[in-house]
Amino acid sequence: MTLPAKGKSREEIYSEIKEALSRDADWRGGKIWSLVYFAGEDVSDVLRDAYSAAIYTNGLGPGAFKSLKRFEYEVVQTAAGLLGLEGAVGNMTSGGTESILMAVKTARDWSRAEKGISEPEMIAPVTAHPAFYKSAQYLGVKVVPTPIGDDFRADVGAIEAAITPNTVLVIGSAPNYPYGTIDPIPEIAALAQKNNIPCHVDACLGGYLLPFVERLGYEVRPWDFRVPGVSSISADNHKYGFAARGASTIMYRDAAYRRHQFFAYSDWPGGLYGSPTMTGSRPGGAIAAAWAVLNYLGEDGYMRLAKVIMDTTRTLQDGINAIDGLHVLGDPDMSVFPFASDSLDIYAVGDALDTFGWHPDRQQNPASLHLMVTPVHETIVQPFLADLAEAARKVRTGEQAPGGRAAFYGMLEKMPDRGAVRDVIVTTLEKLTSDPNSGLP
Ligand SMILES: Cc1ncc(COP(=O)(O)O)c(C=O)c1O
Repeated sequence: MTLPAKGKSREEIYSEIKEALSRDADWRGGKIWSLVYFAGEDVSDVLRDAYSAAIYTNGLGPGAFKSLKRFEYEVVQTAAGLLGLEGAVGNMTSGGTESILMAVKTARDWSRAEKGISEPEMIAPVTAHPAFYKSAQYLGVKVVPTPIGDDFRADVGAIEAAITPNTVLVIGSAPNYPYGTIDPIPEIAALAQKNNIPCHVDACLGGYLLPFVERLGYEVRPWDFRVPGVSSISADNHKYGFAARGASTIMYRDAAYRRHQFFAYSDWPGGLYGSPTMTGSRPGGAIAAAWAVLNYLGEDGYMRLAKVIMDTTRTLQDGINAIDGLHVLGDPDMSVFPFASDSLDIYAVGDALDTFGWHPDRQQNPASLHLMVTPVHETIVQPFLADLAEAARKVRTGEQAPGGRAAFYGMLEKMPDRGAVRDVIVTTLEKLTSDPNSGLP
């Protein structure tokens, strides 16, 4: 594209956008199992109204935009209540990755200031989200990965053995993305506390759902600020908080600790500069929409959606376990889970599902398919299970051969040279961001 010599009409532009969007994955129809958390047309309308009303506002300027200052304060206050500590402090960020980046930076800078640590390390169970590796790379922190147990939860003994005088942060997830299990947070946090090390709980997925799952009467393993030793928690509004994308909260038990998150520069000719999180300008629409949906849904709305999500998850899991050759891995705590097979090539099952229009994510170690359940999936449980049974049958009878994406994923999973696999990923990113006709391998 080059800049059109003469501007197009609003109608023309909108119809081009609608046409392009119509070719995206069918998330409204529940055909994808990640990326979008759709809570219905009414919620969508609320988000759109709030976002567009605040479209020009900028969270960088709380003096000019008292509206955003108030919305952010109230979102953070609400998060504090949901996460089990009324006095918790926090900020809104653009998403889980930025919240995690802030948690790692705060731990690194606090440890440098308070303990003189100059070669920081953080301990991350292998299930921790890649955002921790990204943060570590950006911030010059070494990641020490630790294994998980047979129950797909962090191995506490391995974490204890990995602690050194350079450890600046210990991590647990509630739940982790790959297996949907909540790590043993009380044990991890106790270890951290005993060694005077901060402990971060990544509740990007669970932060705005687990509180309501617990209120519904499910037994939820302890994971929030009610657990002593938990220093910070990331919780994403734009996941199960059902906000518009670009909204997360990073929360801290202690205000003095949180000060290490902030950035200040005093010598710029442009004036004194302070910024609480990574980004400079911050889209006010995302902040206003996150505030709006909390108020629109309220406790009863979130409880209703949590019930739909948990009921749908159970029905899907029972249905998958009833299909010959397939089983859910472990005992997932929430609504995110993998399933695998001891007898079928699970990636080939994934390929067959693709041909039916479903797009489950592929996972490795062990090879599995991954589902992240949202309210929209309530409507497609039976057709999905029927297609999954048919996909499994096709692979069992050899009608669907391992090939295509299945072969590619199978090969990458087994390649011992992980640097070469990272090269494949970077080359793919290069193509995706420079050739509009390129697709995923
Ligand atoms: C457990 C967990 N943490 C962090 C993230 C990163 O969040 P984001 O994609 O909003 O940056 C995700 C994303 O799925 C996640 O599942």
